[in-house]
Amino acid sequence: MFLFRLVFYSRSRITELGNSVAKEMRAILDASVRNNPPAGLTGALIFNDQYFAQILEGDRAAVTRSFCKIAADPRHSNQVIVEAKPIEQRMFTDWSMAYAGHSDEIDLLYLKHSVTIGLNPRTMTAASLTAFIADLVRSDARVAHTSISQSGDAISGPRIAPAAKKSAAG
Ligand SMILES: Cc1cc2nc3c(=O)[nH]c(=O)nc-3n(C[C@H](O)[C@H](O)[C@H](O)COP(=O)(O)O)c2cc1C
Repeated sequence: MFLFRLVFYSRSRITELGNSVAKEMRAILDASVRNNPPAGLTGALIFNDQYFAQILEGDRAAVTRSFCKIAADPRHSNQVIVEAKPIEQRMFTDWSMAYAGHSDEIDLLYLKHSVTIGLNPRTMTAASLTAFIADLVRSDARVAHTSISQSGDAISGPRIAPAAKKSAAG
């Protein structure tokens, strides 16, 4: 197999379509959990009311198939491919979803990778967007994730945890 990574961002149309972000993200999560592990796809999807940004890793044919389907989804528009290239190894061993909102921890990630406090992928390089997504899905912002086995044909999860707030007492 030819291992490949694709990074894109897009504008969310969910609010504009008058739909519930929570409900649509649940549907996208369900589809991703159903489709990505059997296709050997790992990576991450981050979102807020305005934007999506996603990394898809796996066999280049599987990544292309998945992206073509996702790109045609009416829940977003203005898709921009930020990077698409062969890779030596995966950066992600599983598939995760995270909400790009605000907390002390997340605001520090915006400052680390971008010039604004808030997600604006249009101003970010491929390297900074990729690093931001990787950091965000390892933070409290992660809302779900699912694993694939080495063979890519088994799944566990999703484990859905609401973005936990750290207690002041630590
Ligand atoms: C921004 C965005 C990212 C998405 N990511 C995925 C994904 O990683 N995997 C997936 O199967 N569907 C994803 N979807 C949903 C697909 O567009 C499509 O609705 C879904 O794959 C259909 O699943 P089905 O073929 O099993 O019915 C995404 C949708 C959007 C708007």
